[in-house]
Amino acid sequence: MNVVLGVGGGIAAYKAAELVRLLQERGFSVQVVMTLAAQEFVRPLTFAALTGKKVITELFASEGGEQVLASAVEHIRVAEEHEMMVVAPATADLLARFAHGLANDFLTTLYLAFTGPVVLAPAMNTHMWLHPATQANVRLLRERGHTVMEPEEGPLACGMTGPGRLPEPQRIAAVVHALAGKQRDLEGETVLVTAGPTEEPIDPVRFISNRSSGKMGYALAQAAAARGARVILVSGPVNLIEPYGVRVVRVRTALEMRKAVLEHLEEATIIVKAAAVADYHVARVPEHKIKKTAMRLSLELEPTPDILAEVGQKKGDRLLIGFAAETENLVAEARRKLESKNCDMVVANLVGPEETGFGADENEVTLVMRTGEVVRLPRASKLEVAGAIFDHAVRLRLALHAAQ
Ligand code: PMT
Repeated sequence: MNVVLGVGGGIAAYKAAELVRLLQERGFSVQVVMTLAAQEFVRPLTFAALTGKKVITELFASEGGEQVLASAVEHIRVAEEHEMMVVAPATADLLARFAHGLANDFLTTLYLAFTGPVVLAPAMNTHMWLHPATQANVRLLRERGHTVMEPEEGPLACGMTGPGRLPEPQRIAAVVHALAGKQRDLEGETVLVTAGPTEEPIDPVRFISNRSSGKMGYALAQAAAARGARVILVSGPVNLIEPYGVRVVRVRTALEMRKAVLEHLEEATIIVKAAAVADYHVARVPEHKIKKTAMRLSLELEPTPDILAEVGQKKGDRLLIGFAAETENLVAEARRKLESKNCDMVVANLVGPEETGFGADENEVTLVMRTGEVVRLPRASKLEVAGAIFDHAVRLRLALHAAQ
């Protein structure tokens, strides 16, 4: 696969050389485009030597002392010949120019001409990253469907400590790999994913819910689609962009989620239940808004149906992956759920720390498998975690078939 790597002007530009090497190791052919500012930090020669290709540095080239457009259609040609665009480091300036469609150099012109997936790896000073203008630009770019990675926290070149470090090149390469669909090992599979919370009405205007954002489930759907699967995503109410090429079935309550899951069960070959389904609901929801009085109010809650357990009963030879959100005894609880709900794998999710689990961009999980194997995955973005879950799911299925 051909990847065009844009290098922005930041102190982390030198790390892009390592990224080139890692992408090449994963089988990508890389064309580097550098901004003028990037060339202040690293010489184009470094990338030319690594890639064996001329580095594109400008929109206008000199010919006989005259400035001419390097080629009137060069940015169009590069856009058409590459399947993915990665920008690392993506500076605050580049994020702003991409967000607002400014095209005053080769990289920003190429961005407008490019129609494939875009991965942006930001790096900048903490205040610049947290500035409302940058955050608004990041939101815009994410809404456009681009993958904007979270910068890492730590000491920065400016002397500050905080978010703003370029994500490690290993992690950028892993995200590119996950999105590139280089591994088509899920081709022919239909993956049914559940995501997000459910909302259980109390009256026409109030509901009970939880803090699930849907990010984990959406990352699983995105990763499965990139690996060639047909994906059905049964999603509770979330505020996320639908992953490309995925069929999304929107539901609100646990009962609606159960119905949607059972409706699509027949066609599924792998089921991943990442949704945080409400365990209780108000069985008889009043027709009118409950009036406020000085009295105490008690709600009578009934358990919702356990969708995972029901799917476990009906699963046949489908691969069933459940999740377990726990605050303690992670592996023991996951084992208990694996047995009681007849799962093949349970993804045990420690949900205490705020930087992982509910709502976070990263997750740290332990995989507990029917074979008895327990694998602790390192903390990583939800997309990377999703990729690792499918890596293990594919291996697990082979092991289970071999054991039959
Ligand atoms: O959405 P994010 O903000 O990205 O957060 C991700 C997450 C923390 C929600 C996710 O990683 C996670 O852990 N999901 C499972 C949350 C949960 O409800 O765990 P549980 O231990 O209560 O449920 C165990 C399993 O049973 C889950 O697979 C759940 O989908 C399923 N279940 C639960 C209740 C119910 N009535 N029906 C079910 O199918």
